[in-house]
Amino acid sequence: MKPNRIYQGDCLELMKGLKDNSIDMVMTSPPFKQEDVQGDYWEFYDSFFKECSRVCGKVLIIIHSATKLNHLIREYPPHRVLVWAKGFSHYSYRWNPILVYQMDDGYKVNRRIWSDCYNAQSLVGDGKKHKYQDPVELYKLIIGMFKECDLVLDPFIGSGTTALACKRLNRKFIGFEIDPESVKIANRRLAQTQLHTES
Ligand SMILES: C[S@@+](CC[C@H](N)C(=O)[O-])C[C@H]1O[C@@H](n2cnc3c(N)ncnc32)[C@H](O)[C@@H]1O
Repeated sequence: MKPNRIYQGDCLELMKGLKDNSIDMVMTSPPFKQEDVQGDYWEFYDSFFKECSRVCGKVLIIIHSATKLNHLIREYPPHRVLVWAKGFSHYSYRWNPILVYQMDDGYKVNRRIWSDCYNAQSLVGDGKKHKYQDPVELYKLIIGMFKECDLVLDPFIGSGTTALACKRLNRKFIGFEIDPESVKIANRRLAQTQLHTES
């Protein structure tokens, strides 16, 4: 599978094409809700988590919903939990857990820029091209903290946020996305980043 591309399809099928420990980092935000997956949510999550653990050599990072944190900590205990403080939305201050899993080869961090907590306003309104689009700046900060992670996989790449962050950090990415419309959005955003960088 070639890097710096977004492949359209079911990540559970596409990940079968990746060898064990062939990816340095998985950085992703999977579907949070039962209505966004086919079949039982936790069966789906378990398949995705096992397959990510197989292909990923150094670190697996999952941004998830605080509402499912109890189950996630119990069934999939992380190495550490970081916090994405998302700012005010509908009169309440919101946050999401960022779960960090150490894989077989271990990970190294850049201690000078390490942070446990990120303040990044969640996207709203016209700047948002995808229902679940996350801020590129947040992904750039998180990915940038981990050293020697040159190849990053996002199996649920949505609007391409992980790809954009990798491009800015000069790291390679592979993206999977089931929804063809989201793939178009992601590729459009990537092309615009290229134009912007080259101009
Ligand atoms: C929470 S969103 C990711 C948003 C992304 N972080 C961004 O900033 O745009 C989850 C994405 O996973 C996709 N998805 C759901 N099931 C999938 C599957 N089995 N394989 C690949 N992509 C899937 C959805 O279409 C959605 O775009």
